[in-house]
Amino acid sequence: MRTTVGIIGGGPAGLLLARLLHRAGIDCVVLESRTREYVERRQRAGMLEQGTVDALREAGAAERLTAEGMIHQGIELRFDRERHHIDFPGLTGGRTVTIYAQTEIVKDLVALQLADGPPLLFEAEALAVEKPESATPVVRFLHEGREQTLTCAWVAGCDGFHGISRDAFPAEVSRSYGHEYPYSWLGVLAEVPPSCDELIYARGEGGFALHSMRSATVSRLYLQVPDRTDPDDWPDDRIWDELAARFAIDADWTLNRGPITAKSVTTMRGYVHEPMRHGRLLLAGDAAHIVPPTGAKGLNLAVSDVRVLARGLVELHRTGDTQLLDRYSELCLQRVWQATRFSDDMTRMLHTQPNEDAFDARMQLARLRRITASRHAAAELAANYSGLPLPL
Ligand code: FAD
Ligand code: DHB
Repeated sequence: MRTTVGIIGGGPAGLLLARLLHRAGIDCVVLESRTREYVERRQRAGMLEQGTVDALREAGAAERLTAEGMIHQGIELRFDRERHHIDFPGLTGGRTVTIYAQTEIVKDLVALQLADGPPLLFEAEALAVEKPESATPVVRFLHEGREQTLTCAWVAGCDGFHGISRDAFPAEVSRSYGHEYPYSWLGVLAEVPPSCDELIYARGEGGFALHSMRSATVSRLYLQVPDRTDPDDWPDDRIWDELAARFAIDADWTLNRGPITAKSVTTMRGYVHEPMRHGRLLLAGDAAHIVPPTGAKGLNLAVSDVRVLARGLVELHRTGDTQLLDRYSELCLQRVWQATRFSDDMTRMLHTQPNEDAFDARMQLARLRRITASRHAAAELAANYSGLPLPL
């Protein structure tokens, strides 16, 4: 098989890139190792920056997002049994964020792709990218029980953190930077109306908790838990009791409880691979970088990479100019490091360290107090959370 752009991975990054290229008349093929059902059900992100919403609009994939996405004007911070609203429009000159689940973005993009897009092969597992330095890199993949090849002009590695694209970078050009946080998140989905109008980030007695939502009737909640926690050790009542304790404030507020329909544990890590391009292989999204989820940046970063990548490939297609593609890594990495810094700050400020001493706890509270006491500090949080300027 031959194509102009071989895309490895049918997550948000790969699917969005395929749409943007298809609309510009550039042919591509998407290889996704999992089944359609699996990728459409994988519970993950929910908070979209305005730039992410704009990119989905540009790709013609925002019809349901526009109808069903929930626009939020800020977040709530809870600590010391107090609640504090951070007003994004007031602090940023009008910016808001949108709550719309990653599962729904993937469903929307898959449906468009299967209706009129270039090929999207499920259960097609890429094994290796060969000759990325050449004019015709090749992706070897397994599909329908046999090994096949996809010969490309360019390869986009959008295969997430555990993918194989990064392996095609020779050791002498690769630099990677990583950090593992000493705690995990237990994420749950519950059939119960959200107990809040905006997301709550809480530094509670027993650790961090986050209240998010999926609709007027479905809540999404996260709880800091020790590494290697088994979700089966957390029956529903234990989860609700712990969430209620961590969100507790000295005011009239109750956490709605209901049936929990999904539970999973996620480790927390930061990781950046530099550079993001080698020859004709370009990495985008989690294939190149991971942030701890506390700042809700992973999906948004994947989308901003893809925007730059699509523009570079379209510029090359229209004018023969590779200037943008040549600057791809440098353009993306600036924003990646800023989002990593913000996610790290949010994570450290809100989670309890396993061996926390009283000094660390005081430092966390002092940071939170500064944000709620100073308009300048709150504006800094709001600017980062709602999304720093896009590279292009
Ligand atoms: P992925 O979604 O990982 O997609 C990669 C795809 O490649 C997958 O479908 C995979 O099956 C496929 N693949 C892998 N290997 C191969 C192979 N060899 N061959 C073919 N296909 C392959 N981000 C936010 O912006 N906001 C949030 O609110 C947020 N909350 C989060 C909460 C949690 C609990 C978690 C875990 C993450 C959260 N994120 C959030 C991060 C976000 O989900 C990821 O950053 C996002 O999924 C990245 O998209 P991607 O397309 O780069 O990678
Ligand atoms: C969600 C996840 C996050 O990590 C976050 O910071 C905000 C929202 C979510 O899944 O809705």
